[in-house]
Amino acid sequence: MLYNFDHIINRKNTNSIKWDKSIKLFGRDDLINMWVADMDFPCPEPVVEAIKERANDPVYGYSFPPKSLYEAIIERLARDYGWKIKKEWLVFTAGVVNGLYSAVGAFTNPGDEVIVQSPVYYPFFNAIRDNGCQVLHNHLAFDGERYTMDFNNLEQLFKPVTAFPVRMPRIKMLILCSPHNPVGRVWSKEELTALGEICIKNNCMLIADEVHCALLVGDVKHTVTSTISREFEQQTITFMSASKTFNLAGLATSFAVIPNEHWRNEFIRSRAGQNSGNSFGYIALEAAFRYGDEYLHQLLLYLRANVKFFTDYINNKIPRLKVIKPEGTYLAWVDLRSLGMNALELQHFMRSKARLALDDGYVFGSGGGGFQRFNLACPRIILQQALERLEQAVKE
Ligand SMILES: Cc1ncc(COP(=O)(O)O)c(C=O)c1O
Repeated sequence: MLYNFDHIINRKNTNSIKWDKSIKLFGRDDLINMWVADMDFPCPEPVVEAIKERANDPVYGYSFPPKSLYEAIIERLARDYGWKIKKEWLVFTAGVVNGLYSAVGAFTNPGDEVIVQSPVYYPFFNAIRDNGCQVLHNHLAFDGERYTMDFNNLEQLFKPVTAFPVRMPRIKMLILCSPHNPVGRVWSKEELTALGEICIKNNCMLIADEVHCALLVGDVKHTVTSTISREFEQQTITFMSASKTFNLAGLATSFAVIPNEHWRNEFIRSRAGQNSGNSFGYIALEAAFRYGDEYLHQLLLYLRANVKFFTDYINNKIPRLKVIKPEGTYLAWVDLRSLGMNALELQHFMRSKARLALDDGYVFGSGGGGFQRFNLACPRIILQQALERLEQAVKE
């Protein structure tokens, strides 16, 4: 089937967080909404069909993930990433963030430190702080064009400091964002290897959020961190889902892969009060993984063209701004520091002058100030309208 991603779907009055919360959060309703990371596109037809078929059976009682879903995940991870996992390694969660909260809760004590590589997806901070832990930043290095990991600084974080101010590290885990939201990096195998080796040496768990793993918009390959070696596999908990790739976030279904048996048991134990899951979510995840390839192929072509359109437009018509071109995700990270505004001025400018609802860079942690994150998963005509608004506002 040919998908028409140019088609505009009116998402207003559908209880869409992106489109129906903007008055409350941004204070006006004339904005183009390009913030929350879901897509303004329909999901794959096979998913819709599978849900309809399930809906025809009118009993929606408690359910568990079907055996065929486990098989679909196992087959997909082997096919796409060469990762041979066992059925018992899979634990389902009601979304990746839900799983991250559990992971931090299960493996830390209040006061422990958790490393993140900011600027990064801000719910990581909440998952850490809401569990009584401290966020420890290993800031990404940025040369004005590209972000990389700062391995020297990471090594230093693990070392006790005996001179004033004294610091005894209490690091339990590092939450890795791979591909990285918001800067769009798809980490190379070499980068992941260097990171993982430091974590293993320091007995630091790697919590790998790989939810954007299939959304590759550059000429890159995604390496699943756990596939680097058996040791990595034992040191890593991986979170994945179909929710970003196939636009199923509202079905709140995702999974963790936990090869380390001891950690898996701890993780499961910590989730004792969780609901058994969303039956439609299980059905949708399986249909997407089994029958979603044609959709994904077309989607990636469209997203890549959107990235190019967005980047070319800014380079040609608003050259004071700089697009950090994503290799992965459908999010563009834009450097607006040349406008010389502080965080609040930039926020006001985007809302009141450009009339765009975006994610302010500063919410992604230090290093994000002066940046804005644009969600490019929308029909191109909407993207064009947004760019015209931005161009006009910058001119004024
Ligand atoms: C890196 C990352 N992790 C997790 C999520 C959210 O996943 P979920 O809706 O499954 O909690 C997002 C959504 O934008 C994300 O970008």
